[in-house]
Amino acid sequence: MNAKQEEFLKKREKLLEMGGMDKIAKQHAKGKLTARERLDLLFDKGTFVEIGMFVKQRKTDFGLDKKYIPGDGVVAGYGKVNGRTVYAYSQDFTALGGSIGEMTGEKMQRVMRAAIRTGCPLVALNDGAGGRIQEGNDIPHLTFVFNQSVKASGYIPQVAAVMGPCAGGCAYSPALMDYIVSVDKTSTMFLTGPKVIKQVTGEVCDENFGSGRFHAEISGVSHDLASDDYECIEKIKQYLSYFPQNCQEMPPVYACDQDPDELIPELNDIIPESTSKSYDVYKIIKLIADHDSVFEYYGKWAKNLVTCLARLNGRPVGFIANNTKVRAGVMDIDSSDKMSRFVTLCDAYNIPLVFLADVPGFLPGIGQEKGGVIRHGAKTLYANSAATVPKIRLTMRKFYGGGTAAMCDWGHEPDTTISWPGAEDAVMGAAGACEIIHAAALKKAREEGGEEGYRAKLKELSDDYELQFNNPYRRAEIFSTEMIIMPEETRKVLIKVLDSFYTKKVDNWPPKKHGIFPV
Ligand code: HXC
Repeated sequence: MNAKQEEFLKKREKLLEMGGMDKIAKQHAKGKLTARERLDLLFDKGTFVEIGMFVKQRKTDFGLDKKYIPGDGVVAGYGKVNGRTVYAYSQDFTALGGSIGEMTGEKMQRVMRAAIRTGCPLVALNDGAGGRIQEGNDIPHLTFVFNQSVKASGYIPQVAAVMGPCAGGCAYSPALMDYIVSVDKTSTMFLTGPKVIKQVTGEVCDENFGSGRFHAEISGVSHDLASDDYECIEKIKQYLSYFPQNCQEMPPVYACDQDPDELIPELNDIIPESTSKSYDVYKIIKLIADHDSVFEYYGKWAKNLVTCLARLNGRPVGFIANNTKVRAGVMDIDSSDKMSRFVTLCDAYNIPLVFLADVPGFLPGIGQEKGGVIRHGAKTLYANSAATVPKIRLTMRKFYGGGTAAMCDWGHEPDTTISWPGAEDAVMGAAGACEIIHAAALKKAREEGGEEGYRAKLKELSDDYELQFNNPYRRAEIFSTEMIIMPEETRKVLIKVLDSFYTKKVDNWPPKKHGIFPV
């Protein structure tokens, strides 16, 4: 080894130590792994190729030239995740808090551009203090990063993990990606922190403010919550397993040793006879899907709707189901946002959609109308209509009112519509409908027979209404339901339908630049 090689090895060794042993110890004491440890967990052993290790910031303001910022605060490169190439950057909090300066931004963009050029997914591991304050706004590094993310959006899968602070403008970077997973207790994300909020509005934030749980359960910014860094990386790998490398490929197919013609008798008794009783829709999805294949997206937010990635006979599929255990599965502002995002995500990456409908309609209320439920609800109609992947709607029980449009009704061009025998299909529930269309007869019944007479008449009229509308046959007769099946046949029918629609092709018509998504 000559002197130059020795010097190189020394430099490399020092850079691999990141911000130094004391900073690494601090990082560990907070329950966080380092940027390099995280990448080691993400990539298959020995596959990571690092770029830009020797990058150095060149600013001098506020003593920046005296600061040691190895790699300028971010580790970047590519490698294999379960055998497939993935690009990644990992912010290094031990190097000036992982703050983003000119060269940091350049490194982040470099891997993003390469990921787009090669058609491979991008993983961003965030643990940084935001824009580097000492550098001011000389170069808007972060806006270049946002720009790359927008270019990549819908072309390659983009995953953001929030594993520490992600403050200020930095928070927009995960927000532009497809799947955001936050780590409980160690992550924080906000545009303006508690101090600024107190100063400007006088509000006092509690300790949960901006936490991973806050964003997974309340704000809906994060799609998932991990208990620690290990689980976070595991979730990223699992998520990617459902996706193709880019939108021009089909999702990967996994071997499935289950019989594709298997009947699931348990499904016949899963929905209670009484339409006002709830049941476990997660159990239904698990019974229909391949064993251990269900991966929930947005599991802790807007829980009246369930959105899951799963597999059917080895092929990825997106399930969208009303959850009768939460507000009877009614649609509202947040569940509309959740559904339209999930539909758009699956459609972008050629993942077929299965809607499992048991929906009593949209939530009535002044709050919902003030919050713009019309424009939020419209997102579901837009996303469902615009989606060109195979779409299947299965009505398990209720299929009422505006909820029908949200759950991919006939007009949204589902490729197949299926009902279970207990399906009910009407503009609204029988009693509410009769109150309106038979108001005069009910008034007369009350005048003549009091409350008892009124109730008897309402039951008689409701029974008649239900006989006419609340069954699957009326729809089947006008061919807007194509099949009525026993619940136990669901898995085998879905597998056959998806198999036949695998080659579906739709021309985008009429030609246009893009539609105006209602937001
Ligand atoms: C430069 C920073 C920094 C920053 C922290 N550091 N934030 N350096 N720019 N934004 C440095 C610290 O000086 C310290 O340096 C090291 O990083 C670790 O920070 P600590 O404060 O010691 O760590 P901790 O106590 O864990 O607190 C972490 C923190 C806090 C919560 C993230 O540092 C913080 O609130 N920082 C500011 C966050 C913020 O407001 N960011 C928004 C920036 S503006 P030494 O040398 O001691 O190790 C922005 C706009 C972008 O992002 C616009 C885009 C369109």
